[in-house]
Amino acid sequence: MYLRPNGQSARRDRQMNTQAGTLRASTAGQLVSVLYRSHALLSRDAFEASGAPAQFAANNRLRGITGYLHIEDGMFYQHLEGEAGAIGPLWNAIAADPRHRDVTEIGGGAIATRRFDRWAMGYNASDHRSLFDWTARSGLSLKGRHYAQVLTAFLEYASAGARVPA
Ligand SMILES: Cc1cc2nc3c(=O)[nH]c(=O)nc-3n(C[C@H](O)[C@H](O)[C@H](O)COP(=O)(O)O)c2cc1C
Repeated sequence: MYLRPNGQSARRDRQMNTQAGTLRASTAGQLVSVLYRSHALLSRDAFEASGAPAQFAANNRLRGITGYLHIEDGMFYQHLEGEAGAIGPLWNAIAADPRHRDVTEIGGGAIATRRFDRWAMGYNASDHRSLFDWTARSGLSLKGRHYAQVLTAFLEYASAGARVPA
């Protein structure tokens, strides 16, 4: 578990993330995943109006990356998966992206199979699948050592109602 408390500087997070080792230690062809959350520095409307979701999906398609991005209450939650040689550079770019701060790695590492193989970058623009409602309804907690599993389960649930940006 790589969760760090809120309040650490984004810069420190970036350094820790990019040095996290799980990706660096992987061979380029190894399938890996990354799960993180961050504080958005723009509104969801502005993010969508900029065409970012479609742009990310197009990039990911070219690089064989799949995953899912959820935005709720000013936070981004994203799961990414692909070959280490593709995920490593993207992870560095995301950690340094000025559209968010406090990028906090929640989980990740080598994986045997993809969870989101239907999605170049699944994204659900509507509010109807809420992480907080879902955890409350299911009696699951976002605090504690199962955070990564709970968040991944939610992203899989949310992806069932999502669309792939054109
Ligand atoms: C929350 C968030 C999620 C992102 N997800 C992706 C992604 O899945 N794929 C991607 O290519 N870029 C993503 N980016 C953008 C990257 O940080 C970076 O701007 C982009 O990869 C650079 O693309 P380029 O190679 O076309 O210049 C994301 C940025 C943010 C803030």
